[in-house]
Amino acid sequence: MNTENQVEKINRLEFLKKMGLSGASLMAVYCGVTMSSCKNEDNTTPANTGKTVTYDITTVKNGDLKNKGGFFVDTANNIVIANTSDNGYVAVTLVCTHAQNKNIVYSTNKFACTVHGATFDNTGRNLTVAPSPLTTYKVTQAGNILTVTL
Ligand code: FES
Repeated sequence: MNTENQVEKINRLEFLKKMGLSGASLMAVYCGVTMSSCKNEDNTTPANTGKTVTYDITTVKNGDLKNKGGFFVDTANNIVIANTSDNGYVAVTLVCTHAQNKNIVYSTNKFACTVHGATFDNTGRNLTVAPSPLTTYKVTQAGNILTVTL
């Protein structure tokens, strides 16, 4: 994205705010102009690099991972890891494939994005809103330690 284009988008957003639009109505108008305006260019899905990240499910920080339906959001690595009822532990990117916002959570046996409501099954397959699946990562478990391989 070039700087001139970025300046144009900022000015458009400021213009809409000055028109008295706010919240959902502002985003509906702003995003309706061009979906690329809703994308956060800084959000990137971790590439399949072979890097590993470990989580001890006995720590308070990762404690929700012990229970079925629990999940943990690792913002440092852009990963969401969930304890699913049918697939065991599943790790996906935190970055939604709809508009690249980092808002994936795990709820009622599926991954979901809190921005525009995209949903994904326990394999990362897109169910609603998003045009493509979430990137998934291999998870292995040794005792209380989970290892996610990017
Ligand atoms: S960014 Fe739109 S649903 Fe996730």
